Amino acid sequence: MSAAALHEVQPIEINPLSAHIGAEIHGVDLTRKLEPGQVAQIRAALLKWRVVFFREQFLTHEQHIAFAAQFGELTLGHPVFGHVEGHPEVYSISKYRKATRFEGQTLLRPWTGWHTDVTAALNPPWASILRGVTIPPYGGDTQWTNLAIAYEKLSKPLRTFVDGLRGIHRFTPPAGATGTDAFVKAVEQRALVTEHPLVRVHPETGERVLYVSPSFLKSIVDVTPRESQALLELLWEHVTRPEFTVRFKWEAGSIAFWDNRSTAHLAPTDIFDLDFDRQLYRTTLVGDVPVGPDGQQSVALEGSPVGAAAATALN
Ligand code: SIN
Repeated sequence: MSAAALHEVQPIEINPLSAHIGAEIHGVDLTRKLEPGQVAQIRAALLKWRVVFFREQFLTHEQHIAFAAQFGELTLGHPVFGHVEGHPEVYSISKYRKATRFEGQTLLRPWTGWHTDVTAALNPPWASILRGVTIPPYGGDTQWTNLAIAYEKLSKPLRTFVDGLRGIHRFTPPAGATGTDAFVKAVEQRALVTEHPLVRVHPETGERVLYVSPSFLKSIVDVTPRESQALLELLWEHVTRPEFTVRFKWEAGSIAFWDNRSTAHLAPTDIFDLDFDRQLYRTTLVGDVPVGPDGQQSVALEGSPVGAAAATALN
């Protein structure tokens, strides 16, 4: 076989998991440097399917970072909650990472917990890559929803209306959380607040996306509090409709790679009813500043943009 043939890129296998979101990718080894053609195929699948999954990829932290770096610059693990010691780019998603205590009962809604990563920042990470290490035998699934199809499925009058709106995104401790634990303190000490368009134009595909991260979006600008609440609830209920979503069953060695510019996701809470442990690690890629259909960019109200981990470490 010629050297050229040896370097030919085998097409990767892409198996869609639902009508609008999610595909499993096979035929690629993420522990090795990818061929440019493989990077391009994975990126195209990500843009089309919004979240792509890999199985049996037992990566070290270094291999996880090296895989992510082929798609962009890595951020620090998390701008508010820090990173794994010795690995500034890696954020630990352990079962009790938030360990927040609540006074009384929290108000749970169908969209509670759904979010797009770090939308309180001016430039939220454009992608997240989550790697499963310790996975419960059952329970602990993650769900994603496609915010581009959610926009498309609104009626035309409502699309036109939301196109012109903007919203305030911030980190806040969940209602009822006590102020004494580390999670609440971190949120208070590293405040991040940003005004984003309610509809963002995807910088690579040009699609309009309903940018309504339920956990972070607190209010709509220039409308009354009641109008804001009613409209947000309508939009959150809409974006979490099951037909826009995919649910992923983790195994050790699974990787989920998603586009934060067109998705929101839901971390599982059923794990707290089970005795099993759950440990995953996440890296995120530096994102750009969202732009609305009118060409207006987001505006930071508090906090600084999320920089590259490499640049941040030098400062
Ligand atoms: C995340 O929100 O990035 C974590 C999702 C999960 O724990 O499944």
